[in-house]
Amino acid sequence: MKILITAGPTQEAVDPVRYLTNRSSGKMGYALAAAAAKRGHRVLLISGPTALDLPEGVDFLPVVSAADMYQAVESQLDKQDIAIFAAAVADYTPAHVADHKIKKDGDQLTLVLEKTKDILGSARSVMNFSGALVGFAAETENLEDNARGKLQRKGCDLVVGNDVSRKDIGFDSSENEVLLVYPDRTESLPKDNKDHLAYHLIEMIEDLAPNPATGQS
Ligand code: PMT
Repeated sequence: MKILITAGPTQEAVDPVRYLTNRSSGKMGYALAAAAAKRGHRVLLISGPTALDLPEGVDFLPVVSAADMYQAVESQLDKQDIAIFAAAVADYTPAHVADHKIKKDGDQLTLVLEKTKDILGSARSVMNFSGALVGFAAETENLEDNARGKLQRKGCDLVVGNDVSRKDIGFDSSENEVLLVYPDRTESLPKDNKDHLAYHLIEMIEDLAPNPATGQS
């Protein structure tokens, strides 16, 4: 099958030398890409800047900002059977990028931010994607409720909930522990390294893809 995976953080420019970003290392998304390629799928990894090596056998589209990632996904989504959105995309970006390095003239500096486009939220409603849609949710409270809200609002088949309040799992850790929120049930996958977890996740996600003969999953 053809699988698109987003990974890593985005960087939102403030001026020519500064940007806003987050703690995503890309490890979870890259582990998913490696696992999917090992299982024989054609994988397209769309990633923000990371320090990771590209997994073997994976097609790669590097991006920087949330707007870049939106465009890259939009241009490729109609070719995919499955889309997995593991990237930590900036929800807000500076409304204006300064042409020159901002000087430290005052004691305070106010940045005006505007909302970025929700890539996962646009997959069904704007990009008309009809394959299996898997979102991630990074939460510091009410993990299951918040993940279920995202599942329903964004038309996902599965949302993988991550507790990012813990230091031993989630962002920039080699391990993770996730809650799998489906439309009709919730399951959990115990703490494990991201490579093992990714392999299990890909096995489960394969079952969500519509059967080409019947159109049913
Ligand atoms: O990269 P790692 O260090 O391995 O850490 C990543 C992780 C282990 C925490 C990863 O599993 C994870 O949770 N990634 C998603 C983090 C996130 O930004 O979640 P969110 O709850 O803010 O976003 C919800 C969903 O919407 C995600 O699928 C996200 O990719 C997507 N989104 C968000 C904003 C936006 N503008 N467009 C999007 O597509």
